[in-house]
Amino acid sequence: MLLTIYYPNRQNPVQMKRFLLFLLIAFSSQAFAQKQFFKPEKLIETGVYYYPEAWNPEQWERDFANMEKMGFEFTHFAEFAWAQIEPSEGVYDFKWLDKAVELASKHHLKVIMCTPSATPPVWLTKKYPEVLVVLPSGQTAMHGTREHYSWSSPKYQELTRKVVEAMAKHYGNDSRIWGWQIDNEPSHYGALDYGTPAQISFRNWLKKKYGTIDALNKAWGTSFWSGIYTDFEQIELPNEGRLISGVASPTSQIDMKRFNADECAAFISLQNNTIKQYASKSQFVTTNFMNGHTDVDPWRNKDLDFISYTMYPVAGYTEGVGDQGFRLGDPWRISFANDFFRPLKGVTGVMELQPGQVNWGSYNPQPYPGAVRMWLWNAFAGGLDFICSYRFRQPASGGEQFHYGMVGTDGVTPLNGGKQYSQFMGEIRELRKQYKPNVQMPKEYAARKTAIVYNMDNVWETTLQPQTFQWNERNHVTKYYNALKLLTVPVEVVSEDRDLSSYPFVVVPAFQMVDKALVDKWTKYAENGGHLVVTVRTGLKDRNGHFPEGEWACAITSLIGAKITMNDMLGANKTAKLAMNGNEYKWNNWGDMLEPSAGTEVWATFADQFYAGTATVTNRKLGKGTVTYVGTDTDDGKLEQAVLKQVFETNGVKVQELPEGVMVNWRDGFWIACNYSSSAVKFELPQGATKLVGGNEFGSAQVWVWK
Ligand code: GAL
Repeated sequence: MLLTIYYPNRQNPVQMKRFLLFLLIAFSSQAFAQKQFFKPEKLIETGVYYYPEAWNPEQWERDFANMEKMGFEFTHFAEFAWAQIEPSEGVYDFKWLDKAVELASKHHLKVIMCTPSATPPVWLTKKYPEVLVVLPSGQTAMHGTREHYSWSSPKYQELTRKVVEAMAKHYGNDSRIWGWQIDNEPSHYGALDYGTPAQISFRNWLKKKYGTIDALNKAWGTSFWSGIYTDFEQIELPNEGRLISGVASPTSQIDMKRFNADECAAFISLQNNTIKQYASKSQFVTTNFMNGHTDVDPWRNKDLDFISYTMYPVAGYTEGVGDQGFRLGDPWRISFANDFFRPLKGVTGVMELQPGQVNWGSYNPQPYPGAVRMWLWNAFAGGLDFICSYRFRQPASGGEQFHYGMVGTDGVTPLNGGKQYSQFMGEIRELRKQYKPNVQMPKEYAARKTAIVYNMDNVWETTLQPQTFQWNERNHVTKYYNALKLLTVPVEVVSEDRDLSSYPFVVVPAFQMVDKALVDKWTKYAENGGHLVVTVRTGLKDRNGHFPEGEWACAITSLIGAKITMNDMLGANKTAKLAMNGNEYKWNNWGDMLEPSAGTEVWATFADQFYAGTATVTNRKLGKGTVTYVGTDTDDGKLEQAVLKQVFETNGVKVQELPEGVMVNWRDGFWIACNYSSSAVKFELPQGATKLVGGNEFGSAQVWVWK
């Protein structure tokens, strides 16, 4: 029967029907989402935020006309406009927004409509003060900022549902509305909520999770420090600001993070369900999560049509590559976001991409000339369907005055970033002429396809108990990502429940909390021919964050074919050495000492300290596949890159090593290379390639596109 599903007899209508049904299911929501909302032949569409409520209505048409002239294809409204949409409780005013939609449409701009729940109006917070977040200090968040509302507040949920319902009824069948964005960067920007509604909801969440207080005590390890609870009603939201010494039950704090992420996801789902009740199926529903923010979990909202992200590569927080790296951004950052947000539904877009200088970094440098255009191409390269930029006009007042727009403070003159957007949009219009449907990924590239398995639990757990101040889970993961990209590897960052069989290579970086089923899944993956790379800290704890009663890391010893006898770490100013293939590498963050079993090969050993000569990178065959364990975390990622290269090459897969700072991606038949480094690099196109975009020299911030 299975065979006839895959290989139907064309003359047999029953088999053909089954086959077609199978195809339909196999291509499921992902491909479907793409077809429904985005036209593949457009490759990518580019738009920009606009705040009609902030500008003189007489300027709206001029602004939309300029947007169109610059090349934009859509605009984005209303994510902060609750006060204007519902000026008093239950009284809605859509006249102004209707006018803005009409004028945008007159200038051929589709509209992404947003729900305004990020910024409640003052009538709301004054009448129902319980909707506000209470900070760890016990102070209530104040009106006039954003994301200061409580996800857990039933009143806020009710009022949000009402305004979203009113909007969805009004715009849900308006063909000028392309889709919906829920809220704005859902998060509390790092704050946790200690208000009464959150407290009540947390206790209910715990009751549901644990059932009995005894089960909770066991999971939380409360027998230590007399922490035992006798009733759920005694439990308070873990508050780091109220601790005297040590961490009160790390498991309770992970639960707090899990709860917080669940509350956020539920609040988004509430809005998603409300919109979907009224809106046409041709309108998408998404939200714009902050890239790299770790308090909420974008992957929890599988119910959205897709998730999108916001991205600011240069805001004083990156050194990048070389002297001008702080103006160019980290080479891996946009690619990682693409490969993190896309796999959930096979579709994504960037909802905010930096337009130029911003206002909120520790300092705010000008991006390197051409960098904005390079970011646009880098976003395109990740297979995205749209790019939206924040924002069209530089604000004249309010909290973000120094933030650039596409046009400057006079409202009409394109700034540097604006000009680069226009250039990019012109280039995309040209590229569309070269588009061919259903082009297959080149074989050599596809052979390297790698999944990185990731979850938020490990981020939260290792942040709470880092063991060394140098540990940063996200940096560890992105280090592997960057190392893979320097080998020109297509990567997808996926959750642990993902079927791994389509990836020839899988990296499991610092996946500290595991259970038997997960380790069994990884074992099967390798046995079936997959090549698994497992790194430091993986498998140390169970899902409650407890060490199992067994040898250190016993959950993974038979998988990796080695015992981990101990680990070490050094201070920031001291480095130790290890050796692999005659090359020396420096490290100080984390090093595991390994005792390989018979049949396990040693790839790298420590070269100094009292454990010199001990193995730290091993490789073994397992069934038809292999398992490599990388027991050291370095700062510069060079060891990690060398190990990965060896994993590919010993398994007969050729890689293409890139100069530091260069990112190469493939989509829809096009190769896109971006140079994030501070100087020109020597980079050769493959023989027979036709260059479609780019000059002779591959200088800083330059982009080459070829096919
Ligand atoms: C984003 C945010 C926008 C705006 C922007 C400024 O993180 O979603 O509303 O504040 O930053 O760069």
